[in-house]
Amino acid sequence: MVEVAESVAGVRASVDRARGEGRAVGLVPTMGALHDGHVRLIERCREEAGFVVVSIFVNPTQFGPNEDYTRYPRTFEADLARCRGAGAALVFAPTPEVIYPSGATSTFVEVPGLSEVLEGASRPGHFRGVATVVLKLFEIVRPDLAIFGQKDYQQQLVIRRMVNDLHVPVRIVTEPTVREADGLAMSSRNRYLDPAQRQTALGLFRALAEARRAVAGGETSADRVRQILRETLESSEGVRLDYAEVADGKTLEPIDRLGGGIRAVALVAAWVGSTRLIDNLALTE
Ligand code: PAF
Repeated sequence: MVEVAESVAGVRASVDRARGEGRAVGLVPTMGALHDGHVRLIERCREEAGFVVVSIFVNPTQFGPNEDYTRYPRTFEADLARCRGAGAALVFAPTPEVIYPSGATSTFVEVPGLSEVLEGASRPGHFRGVATVVLKLFEIVRPDLAIFGQKDYQQQLVIRRMVNDLHVPVRIVTEPTVREADGLAMSSRNRYLDPAQRQTALGLFRALAEARRAVAGGETSADRVRQILRETLESSEGVRLDYAEVADGKTLEPIDRLGGGIRAVALVAAWVGSTRLIDNLALTE
């Protein structure tokens, strides 16, 4: 059984009950269209918390005007079954009016520094929408911990910074990306891909894997690794590169050389047809 709540009062009543029973509360924020990557987040959360809340909310404020907000996949019944199977106790499925009461979009959270680069440069305002909705979810659920996927690498950094700066009493856990057998990172947006595009989309992982191979083989020039990322991506027919970066895994600042104790991450974004995909891989530990 998984309970469903649509109101703030409903969520708080269930969470208070669970707390009264001495259970730790975990939150897995999602936009629905759940796949095995989300299932892993829920299972991980269940390992750490006795009461797992999954939020399902397609957040309008993190989509740009020409993005896929209206066509974003909404698969509520299937999502509920996945939540149930993975051990969630409560699904919070609010309407936009619950999250943004009386159209209240005047209060926003900004996390400058991490929000304007990479995804933020391509999708202005995206992280303002993400940080705002995640803080609202934290305020509504008041979880002890919250789990995010590493596939949205920049997102989890933005949320960690926000939680740290605003003293939000929640522990953030980042769970490794779940991949298909051939390496494609699981994503709700993979549903947009036809079989040929699905093959093309593998170019993102292929580029990241090439970059990691080069670094494991001794390459230390970040520019050379960027070039490998770009060349591999651009050699996949049907892929249109957005960015290919090698950055400091903590600050997202571009780096010059690999090594020297810096955790370097390769991050890519590309279009396959009208679908924009992102992926990343650690290059050094
Ligand atoms: O990663 C997502 O699905 C969303 O950005 C999140 C964290 C649920 C906020 O809407």
